[in-house]
Amino acid sequence: MSIRLVPYYCLLGFALAVASCKTQSPTTTTADTKVKQSQGVYQYRDEDPTIKPFFSDRVGVTGRNGMVASAHPEASQVGLAILKAGGNAVDAAVAVQFALAVVYPGAGNIGGGGFMVYRDNAGKAYSLDYREKAPGRATQNMYLDSLGNVRPGLSISGHLASGVPGSVDGMVEAHKRFGKLTWAQVLQPAIDLASKGFPLTERDALGLSRIKTDLNTINPGKVYFLKSAVPTDTVSWHKGDLLIQTDLAKTLQRIQAQGRAGFYEGETARLLAEEMVRGKGLITEEDLKNYHSIWRDPILAAYKNYNVITMPPTSSGGIALVQMMRFTEPYPLRKWGWNRDSTVQVMIEAERRVYADRAKFLGDPDFVKVPATQLMSPEYLRTRWTDFSWAKATDSRAVRGGTIPGYESLETTHFSVVDKEGNAVSITTTLNGGYGSRVVIGGAGFFMNNEMDDFSIKPGSPNMYGLIGNQANAIAPHKRMLSSMTPTILEKDGKLFMVVGTPGGSTIMTSVYQTILNVIEHGMTMQQSVNALKFHHQWLPDKTIFENGAFSSTTIETLKSRGYILEQLSNTLGRMDCVLVRPDGSYEGASDPRADNTARGY
Ligand code: GLY
Repeated sequence: MSIRLVPYYCLLGFALAVASCKTQSPTTTTADTKVKQSQGVYQYRDEDPTIKPFFSDRVGVTGRNGMVASAHPEASQVGLAILKAGGNAVDAAVAVQFALAVVYPGAGNIGGGGFMVYRDNAGKAYSLDYREKAPGRATQNMYLDSLGNVRPGLSISGHLASGVPGSVDGMVEAHKRFGKLTWAQVLQPAIDLASKGFPLTERDALGLSRIKTDLNTINPGKVYFLKSAVPTDTVSWHKGDLLIQTDLAKTLQRIQAQGRAGFYEGETARLLAEEMVRGKGLITEEDLKNYHSIWRDPILAAYKNYNVITMPPTSSGGIALVQMMRFTEPYPLRKWGWNRDSTVQVMIEAERRVYADRAKFLGDPDFVKVPATQLMSPEYLRTRWTDFSWAKATDSRAVRGGTIPGYESLETTHFSVVDKEGNAVSITTTLNGGYGSRVVIGGAGFFMNNEMDDFSIKPGSPNMYGLIGNQANAIAPHKRMLSSMTPTILEKDGKLFMVVGTPGGSTIMTSVYQTILNVIEHGMTMQQSVNALKFHHQWLPDKTIFENGAFSSTTIETLKSRGYILEQLSNTLGRMDCVLVRPDGSYEGASDPRADNTARGY
């Protein structure tokens, strides 16, 4: 599939259509007077004290030679060390992926999969799909009972929930094509962290303590990730405890010595297949041997003087991001102001339509025809916007995917890397839910994914993120399940500008969308944009969730008066890890203050 860049002037038709449905909201006051921008730093001005735009006042990290932003300080440190040792962005990214598999077992992985978007310093863009695949023995109705009802939990926890992992093959492919250091060099930091151990952060300790019961139930007789091997023992992990993972270190050594074969064949493959037999899972040694990641043409889409380089299907993220950006492009968001009622209203309406399309059209492009180009075209977007009204929220029940001639776990993870030559990597990788299926491969010491839940296990039945799917994303042997992951790189005036991404299940695309707009429309720094409070709508359920403080009471009242259902979250949205190239050429590394995310640069 080739997804071509659509020049900005092609959007004129959509802009005219928007103009005809009034670009001025009836209530938003012009926000220009309330926003001051000095030296590129955004300052929010509003009389309403109920709004606090930022989760924290963390400032970005500056570097001139390289930057790594990831979910864990140890992994960012590994990436930085690789860059300093002369590695390029791909070397550092591969090292970070393996390091996260050790220090961030909730989402970092070798038992899962992911997507990489890469832009080299000459401006050539690539994307690598190392998403998991359904095992060869998978069937469309494998999670349904004889009456056609979903058998609860089977696609989420235990051995049957796992797809064939893609992460190791993805890293082998990326390194083979673009790496500069040796394979042994980029694997070594992860091996050291696993064999010598690393001190847990408070968040690491809480996460592992929280899943103790599942670990005992799903992995009887195993001691992986337990502080005490006695199942009835209530001993919990604490900050500073050393986590040593001897079997994982041996698995990583096999991968270091044998490359792809160290995981997909021989000892590791045998251990994985035996584990599946023990737990009545489906993955076989044959499935592992046959797994291959795929280089795909990235989506390249113009937005004003920016180019968006993002992930095509099997992720829905790239198409959704471009659709959302194009729906709202003609509106004066900057003039209206950040999270003012008009700004939020058009963004919610864009999100509603995009998620309806996702459910209808998107799936593995190797199995279904995904009309990617049409979905992002101005003509199509114009037809999708004709029922937009300022007066009233569109009713999601009346919104279906368009016509063409198809609560949240945060435990995916994203990291962004830029090297001194300006090569940039954007990777989002996952086990799906936190600690995946919670199955640990006996003798090999790593968690398996529960990615099968990202298939539409029954048409119209929501998955763990509340996402609805259809035939396009039905289970079939060797098929990849649809994803929301949105690793993205932006160019400005043809030069590298931003590397962006986040975990967050179904909320990934809307968090990436807001983080980009915060910088390019509202003038925030990269870190301010990451700190900024976020909101999310996904068509169904028909409600907008928002972080506490994201909306002023005026915005809330106005939106409610137009029929929007708003729900304030007690938790947070997004765990962004991003890099921005400033006008002077320096890098701003921005990591999310909502968790342990850390940027390291030099
Ligand atoms: N497992 C979350 C996603 O791929 O979107």
